Amino acid sequence: MIRSLLFVLALTFIACGGDDDHVALDAGADAGRRDAGPPVVLQVFTYTPDGCDYEVSTPEVQDPGLGDEVIGEGAPDHVHTSFAGPSWSSFAVNWRTDRETLASALLYGTDEDAVRAAEGPGEGVASQRGHTFLVASAFDPTGTRLHEVHVCALEPSTTYYYKVGGPGRWSEVYDYATAPALGTTEAWSFAITGDARNNRDNAWPLSQRRIMNRGVDLQIFSGDAVFLGALQRDWELFFGARADDFEVTELLARVAFMPTNGNHEGLAVNYLAQFALPQEVSPGERGQGEEWYSFDFGNAHFVVLNDTVLDQDVIAGAQGTWLREDLAAVDRERTPWIFAMHHRPFYTCESNHRPDLGLRAAWQPIFDEHEVDVVFNGHNHVYERSRPIRGVDGGEPRLAAEGPDAVPVMTRAGEGSGGPSGTLYVVAAAVGAPLYDASAACEFTHVATSETNYGVVEIEDRTLTITIRNVMTDALIDTFSYSK
Ligand SMILES: [Fe+2]
Repeated sequence: MIRSLLFVLALTFIACGGDDDHVALDAGADAGRRDAGPPVVLQVFTYTPDGCDYEVSTPEVQDPGLGDEVIGEGAPDHVHTSFAGPSWSSFAVNWRTDRETLASALLYGTDEDAVRAAEGPGEGVASQRGHTFLVASAFDPTGTRLHEVHVCALEPSTTYYYKVGGPGRWSEVYDYATAPALGTTEAWSFAITGDARNNRDNAWPLSQRRIMNRGVDLQIFSGDAVFLGALQRDWELFFGARADDFEVTELLARVAFMPTNGNHEGLAVNYLAQFALPQEVSPGERGQGEEWYSFDFGNAHFVVLNDTVLDQDVIAGAQGTWLREDLAAVDRERTPWIFAMHHRPFYTCESNHRPDLGLRAAWQPIFDEHEVDVVFNGHNHVYERSRPIRGVDGGEPRLAAEGPDAVPVMTRAGEGSGGPSGTLYVVAAAVGAPLYDASAACEFTHVATSETNYGVVEIEDRTLTITIRNVMTDALIDTFSYSK
């Protein structure tokens, strides 16, 4: 009850945070900022990382600025990766330290031993400077020190070794492989997870250990990482979670994690502060452009949408306009696969959260027009796969085919079934949230089961294979494959 109240307060807190008092600092204007006493000033800091062709903006935070040489007592922890620029030539790293540490450096190169030995740039080792800030909220007024570095102008399909921190206080050395060249016909894979909140039965870190063992290139996450997005302590539990001797950082520091906003994040400043995501701001968009975004990875295009908005008009309005334009620009020769992700499903047979018909009316016509392959959702803590759907009649889905042919089955690569000729809607959302009952009683539902689950999507040129497994047992729940 108290936590529910806090959540409502958090949403109110976000709703009251206007954009009018944002202050964009010049990258070189941070001198003296650390001497500032009360009152606390919240600022947005904007700069262009060296070698990158995009700007980075913090959310409204305390004491933002470029990192410098100040080293405190604590070593970097909770290291995790994502990307805000091209997936094949850049990546970004976020981490936490004690409040006093301002050093926000990253050393990297393709020679692991050289990176491990380095205290600064040198032969085979490059350095990159990042930014740092304190993220605070009504529930955490003293703030937590976070850091972020962006590295650009890298080679595709290349493993880089890196460590973050500053002289004498480095993280361990991690390896990060850039995405394959855009449009690749080589095999690659990504994981799909969602709804980690509560971490029931320690399913969140267990899912990450299982995904690590499967060797994916990317992970997407359909929202509700934590119970209360405005509570930094929940994020520390999320990034610090362990299953036996495995800490989630082991995966997150090596494989990019690209999330969407769930209702439990509520687009809180603390959510925005955790991840470096593409920041191209479109009209009507909040959150430094991280409210919705798209990216290419391998031969796939991903659109990540936000369905938890303060103003419902944004769904069909600003976001619908952006989605239509974004998908219209996709080159299907180069990226034949299109995946969409948002939190609340508009095809689900589960009774706890019924299908969101407003989202269906707003976005399905756009998904249909551009023949999106798979839409990944969370919010209902089950696994569900729809039959292929194309079109809506009087609010009811139109199945793309009738009978068993409506369901994609295993086909051999190269033979090509032509695909399912409709969009598949997949709810894959239970890596720690309490399970809900599942039902397959709806005409549009092919499979539904109340189990913890994580998915791995393997792509090789124009053949796709999705495999869903139980987090606790690793037992197979569902698998299918098709070519197009
Ligand atoms: Fe949710």
